[in-house]
Amino acid sequence: MAEVLAENNNQNYRLIQITDSHLYADRDTIFDGLNTYDTLKDVVDLVASQEQSIDCLLCTGDLAQDSSVGAYQNFLAAMSPLNAPQLWIPGNHDIRSNMQQALEQDSINLKRSVQLGNWRVIMLDSSVEGQVYGLLDQKELADLDLELADSERSNAHVLVCVHHNCLPVDATWLQQHCLKNSDEFFSILDKYSHVKGVLCGHIHQEFEVERNDVTVIATPSTCIQFHPTNADFTIDNENPGYRWLDLMPDGEIKTGVERIVSKSYNIDFTSTDY
Ligand SMILES: [Fe+2]
Ligand SMILES: [Fe+2]
Repeated sequence: MAEVLAENNNQNYRLIQITDSHLYADRDTIFDGLNTYDTLKDVVDLVASQEQSIDCLLCTGDLAQDSSVGAYQNFLAAMSPLNAPQLWIPGNHDIRSNMQQALEQDSINLKRSVQLGNWRVIMLDSSVEGQVYGLLDQKELADLDLELADSERSNAHVLVCVHHNCLPVDATWLQQHCLKNSDEFFSILDKYSHVKGVLCGHIHQEFEVERNDVTVIATPSTCIQFHPTNADFTIDNENPGYRWLDLMPDGEIKTGVERIVSKSYNIDFTSTDY
């Protein structure tokens, strides 16, 4: 069922989450004052300088802003120095068929799941064509249940990745853009005790909450950040960043966020949308 990336059950696995790069086919395009291709490359440089070995890159949606095949080709180009397997899920700005077009036919990037030792990483597509909000359709929910049953039988721990936030955040304007059927999502997760984490993008901020022994996590974008508490859309003055995760053999997830510190950016704080 899952693509096996590594078989050793007794080691920890280092995963890097890169999210919400919002790239364009034209590498010179400016988005809210930032060149998103350049900021992704800055984050990639930071990852390359900080991380000795990476077992897998989790790219959790909004890889493109303009949904173009060229944007996904640019993403591959910017990420190439990291030289590790990449898993992709679409966000609200992405078009899955265009993502596929930028990839080799036999690439694993859009696979449903991978196995790293005794960990199963499950990728869910919450994108809804033409909408900012997210929804897991019946196929995604059914596949999630199948993956969880299968991984439970093989005594694996589970990390689930989904673009849209499945728990409310303090920035209440984001609530209209959340995963609309998070109740259905959690009713499936709650049947199992081997799910350890849910990893999201979309909210462009650091977030970590425990729910029923599952850590629900979100991560800064590689471009603009959303203010974590303002009720209305506000761009935050934090720098781009990424998240590292260590999946431990006993089911623990160790994790943290790293941001660019050596640069300042010309972010357009007057923007009222993204
Ligand atoms: Fe985004
Ligand atoms: Fe998004």
